[in-house]
Amino acid sequence: MKDRRAVQDSSSMTNFIDELMSKMSLKEKLGQLNLLTSNVPIDQNRADEIRKGNVGGLLGGLIDCSFGINGPAQLRTIQEIAVHESRLGIPLLLAYDVIHGHQTVFPIPLGLSCSWDMDHIETAARIAAREASASGINWVFSPMVDIGRDPRWGRIAEGSGEDPHLGSQIARAMIRGLQGKDLSSPDSVMACVKHFAGYGAAEGGRDYNNADMSSSRFQDIYLPPFLAAIDAGTGSAMMSFSALNGVPSHADRERLEQVLSGVLKVSDFNGIPEMIAHGIGDEEGQIDEADPLQTMSERALRAGVQMDMMGYGFVTRLEKALAAGRISQQQIDSACRAVLKAKYKLGLFAAPFARFDEKKAVHSILAPDYRHTAREIAGDSCVLLKNENALLPLPKSGITVAVVGPLADDKKNVLGPWSFQGDSRTAVSVLEGIRNVAEVKMIYAKGSNIVEDRRMVELLNFAGPKVDIDPREPDEMIAEAIRAANASDVVIAVLGEAAEMSGESASRLDIGIPDNQRTLLKALGKTGKPIVLVTMNGRPLTLPWEKDHIPAILVSWFGGMEAGNAIADILFGERNPSGKLSATWPSHVGQVPLSYYHANTGRPGNPKEDPGKYTTRCYLDGSSDPLFPFGFGLSYTSFAYGPVEADKTVLTGDDDVLTVSITVTNTGGRDGTEVVQMYVTDPVASVVRPVRMLKGFQKIRLRAGEKKTVSFSITTRDIEFCDSRLLPVWEAGKFVIGIGTNSNELNTAEVVWNK
Ligand code: BGC
Repeated sequence: MKDRRAVQDSSSMTNFIDELMSKMSLKEKLGQLNLLTSNVPIDQNRADEIRKGNVGGLLGGLIDCSFGINGPAQLRTIQEIAVHESRLGIPLLLAYDVIHGHQTVFPIPLGLSCSWDMDHIETAARIAAREASASGINWVFSPMVDIGRDPRWGRIAEGSGEDPHLGSQIARAMIRGLQGKDLSSPDSVMACVKHFAGYGAAEGGRDYNNADMSSSRFQDIYLPPFLAAIDAGTGSAMMSFSALNGVPSHADRERLEQVLSGVLKVSDFNGIPEMIAHGIGDEEGQIDEADPLQTMSERALRAGVQMDMMGYGFVTRLEKALAAGRISQQQIDSACRAVLKAKYKLGLFAAPFARFDEKKAVHSILAPDYRHTAREIAGDSCVLLKNENALLPLPKSGITVAVVGPLADDKKNVLGPWSFQGDSRTAVSVLEGIRNVAEVKMIYAKGSNIVEDRRMVELLNFAGPKVDIDPREPDEMIAEAIRAANASDVVIAVLGEAAEMSGESASRLDIGIPDNQRTLLKALGKTGKPIVLVTMNGRPLTLPWEKDHIPAILVSWFGGMEAGNAIADILFGERNPSGKLSATWPSHVGQVPLSYYHANTGRPGNPKEDPGKYTTRCYLDGSSDPLFPFGFGLSYTSFAYGPVEADKTVLTGDDDVLTVSITVTNTGGRDGTEVVQMYVTDPVASVVRPVRMLKGFQKIRLRAGEKKTVSFSITTRDIEFCDSRLLPVWEAGKFVIGIGTNSNELNTAEVVWNK
């Protein structure tokens, strides 16, 4: 083993692993299943464990982790210990949460998904892979493909929104970008699709909460992005902290076998021991009272989990389980083989240090082309929700602008959650962005804190300070902001959430702009100056007051290191916004979960009428309509959609293909980009079906006055669903094809599809 032959020939992989495993002791095999975390530099105990062959992989620490920032040298030292000082010299998997960029930080995934741009998403993932791999990282815990339909849940920020079709396309683009064409290439990293499964359906939007759902809902909505990631070749998958239909994911043997065979399956952080608190035992409901971790580790291995992240159970308990006959040698071997296979495919046996490249790592931090790309992508992720009387774009000179709000001069929160390697000193604030893009006179006032609640500030700063409390009284700050507004032609108010108000363990009861910021906004409103609201946020926000009273609203999510420039590009017309919401924006938190993709009911209520009593649309105290629907987003130009033309009105059989087309015209005075969306409705089926489902989209660029015809192909795969026996079927009958600018404004055509 210590002679490093070229062992990349895939036909030789099995032989190579067989030979290696024949030399491994039971302890060494269990060591491969052990995934630990460690800050760098590594402490002595960890180094010893690695020397002894007790560690299969390491996950970078979250706080003060020097991956990539101090250079890859220290990480390399760890790999050297594994390769040169352990008996068999098996290299480590070196993992990290690379969620939306590494050193070059891109918009949060929810923002990225609003670009509906697969090239952008693949490019962002590729750059992240290049940077991470240059630091020696070979495995990233991304993409997160959990469908999110409840914006109270903070982790909606990490995924691609509510829709299975869009989510699946993005899952594929992410895998392509992260893993590249060849996983063994030094600039590729192994992806880890997560969290399997149903994590996004956490009841009440409370993190780590369980979900209960019908199998058909799971298969039609929550499963497709995982299948897409597997189809695109993801090397690994991570379990979910939650239980689905009563079975914790780490114990869900049936689902793991059915869906994830052939993919390296890793637990979530401490997920195996946490099954103890779930209150489950083994498959017979029994537990080792004296050592519950024993029972959990055995059950997780039997279920198919192959690597234990920070649970310490596989490495310490499975020997005993084997001796007692509760797990088999074959189960251990197959988990160990999966880990070794991943290492082999990554090229780690052939070239364990290929990914450590100081030069590349240093280059990438400041690479101007990466920054340029980040700026474009951040711009295309912004969503323009309102633009009354074409207030935007603003003139680039000759005006005075009041730039107000606790996020206007911020370089930390713009990076968003899960951006540990982003250096806030290199991030661009909105204030800086405006200075870079326009020649307007600016008056800045903070106006308010992000939040006033001290306990919340403490929680938000848990992993490092991002939120401070200004010592001034709120009234004093507001007065300063009003003075700035009164002395200006227009106000740009940059408001919203702190980065850590979304992401893991960041559920919120109230999903509006925090009260103190809304007070500021209302006070600014009273000045009578036109206001542009720019939001930073990790989830759909409830902004009914803002929608009624503020003339222009631009959602920037957490746009990453180039956020400020990208926002300024849009505000001053350097870029025409084209983002579209990937998740419905509710008008009230009481409406959630809310999705355009909801099932028909027996009393839907007419959407055009006031929702009277006895309809699903009726809340006694308000509307059940969303504030902004899925797919919504404005441009500085306007687009007109012609009629939907179907090439056939009657189709027959499995292999027939329907082509639908529509002509879209740019009817405004500017060049622009539009995401043309295609939805399918199955009005009569054997089971209740959703009112509509996205089945295709195309992003097109149209010069002012230009028109283009866009076509979509529809096959029976697009009308398939899980029937009551959970078999994929399509049923003959009428189908309505809707094409338009968002899920709520569609031109339609009907076809009949016969068997
Ligand atoms: C999260 C995962 C993440 C892991 C490692 C967990 O708390 O749920 O998404 O990959 O930590 O950081």
